[in-house]
Amino acid sequence: MTAVPNLKIGFIGAGFIATYHSKSIRRIEQSLPFQIERAGVFDVDSARATSFAAASGHHVMSSPQEVIDSSDVVYICTWTSEHLEMVRKIAKSGKALFCEKPLATNIPDAQEIVRLCEEFSITNQVGLVLRHSPAYLLARDLVHAPEAGRVMSVIFRDDQFIPIQGHYDSTWRGDVSRAGAGTLLEHSIHDIDMLHAVIGPIAEVSARQSFFHGIAGIEDVLTTNFSFSILSDSAQSNGAVAIGSLTSIWHDNLARPSLRRVEIFCEKRFITIEGDDWFGPVSWTNSDGSGGSLAGDELVAVTRELIPNHPNPDAAFLLAAYSRKPAYPDVSVALSAHQTVDAIYRSAREGGNNIPVVNNS
Ligand SMILES: NC(=O)c1ccc[n+]([C@@H]2O[C@H](COP(=O)([O-])OP(=O)(O)OC[C@H]3O[C@@H](n4cnc5c(N)ncnc54)[C@H](O)[C@@H]3O)[C@@H](O)[C@H]2O)c1
Repeated sequence: MTAVPNLKIGFIGAGFIATYHSKSIRRIEQSLPFQIERAGVFDVDSARATSFAAASGHHVMSSPQEVIDSSDVVYICTWTSEHLEMVRKIAKSGKALFCEKPLATNIPDAQEIVRLCEEFSITNQVGLVLRHSPAYLLARDLVHAPEAGRVMSVIFRDDQFIPIQGHYDSTWRGDVSRAGAGTLLEHSIHDIDMLHAVIGPIAEVSARQSFFHGIAGIEDVLTTNFSFSILSDSAQSNGAVAIGSLTSIWHDNLARPSLRRVEIFCEKRFITIEGDDWFGPVSWTNSDGSGGSLAGDELVAVTRELIPNHPNPDAAFLLAAYSRKPAYPDVSVALSAHQTVDAIYRSAREGGNNIPVVNNS
C-alpha cells in the first residue's frame, strides 16, 4: 500500500487565532487526501507556545526560522505589526503561507507582502474568512440575480466589545504600534472585504471616527458613507449610483457577543444578513411578495456549489498548498480591502472629506 504523504504545518504566534486554526484543522484533517504533521510553533511568549504545543501536538521552537525550516506551510498568527517580517522569511523559503488579516499596519507594508508573494510565487491565503461564509455567499447571489434589479444601498453595522479584555486575553489591540489602528482596520476590514465581495469595489468614501476609550490611534467608533464603482462609471447610470454606510463600534458591553447586521436594498429585493456570520439567517423579500429565509445546514447546502474550493478555509488552504496551486482569498484580495480602509482613515482625519479609493494593487 502506498503511504499517504504528509503536509507539515507550523505556527508563528500561538494565541487566540492560532488556536482557532489548529482546532479547525483537527476537525477537517480526516477529509484530506494527505496526513497532517504538526511541526514547529514559536511565540515570543514562551508560555503561550508551550501551552499551544501541549494542546495541539506541535513542537516548541526557538525562532520563526526554525518553524519555517520544520514546515511545508506556515501560519502567521502574530500581532499585525509582525506580519511583514514573517512573510519576508517564509517567502524566501518558498513555503506556503497563511497570513492573518490585516496584512499589515500600513499600505506600504501590505504592498510589500503582496510583492513578496508574487516574487517568490508562493501559495498564499489570508484570514478574510468571510469569503467562505455561506451567509455572505448567498447574499451575493441574491444581490446579483437579474430579478433583484440594480443594487441601490447597503447599511452595514458591526459591533463588539473592545477586544483588549475578556476571552481575547491580550492587550496589543490597544497599542497602535502593534495594531496599526482600531475597530476599522483590526475588525471591520472583514466588512469592507464583504462589501467588495457581495456588492463590488468601493469608489469613494466619507468618514468620521471617535475615541471613547481615549487610546491614541485606536478609534472605537467609525462610520463611513461610500459609493460603489458599479453603475457609477456607466454612461447610462443617470445618477443611479449604489451607495451605503458602515458603522463599526468597539464598546464595553461584555454581555453582547460580536454581531453584524447587514441590510441590502435592491430595486426589487430587500436582503438581510443577521445572527451568525456563517449560518445566518439570510432573509429576503421580493417586489412580487415572494421571499425566503435560510439558516444553518439548509444555508450551507444551498451555497456549497458557490464556494470556490472547500467550505472550510483551512482545508481550502492546505489543499491548495499541497497541490502547489493558488489559494483563495489571497494577499491581493486583502490589499484591495486595505486600500479602501486607507481612504476611509484619510477621510476621517480630514473631517469627512470625500476621498477616492486608490486601487493600484
Ligand atoms: N481572521 C480573523 O477573524 C481573526 C480573528 C482574530 C485575530 N486575527 C488576527 O490574528 C492576529 C493575531 O491575533 P490574536 O487574536 O491571535 O492575538 P493574540 O494576542 O491572542 O496572539 C498573538 C500572539 O502572537 C505572539 N507574537 C507577537 N509577536 C510575535 C513574534 N514576533 N514572533 C512570535 N510570536 C509573536 C504573541 O505573544 C501572542 O501570543 C492579528 O493580526 C489579528 O488581527 C484574525
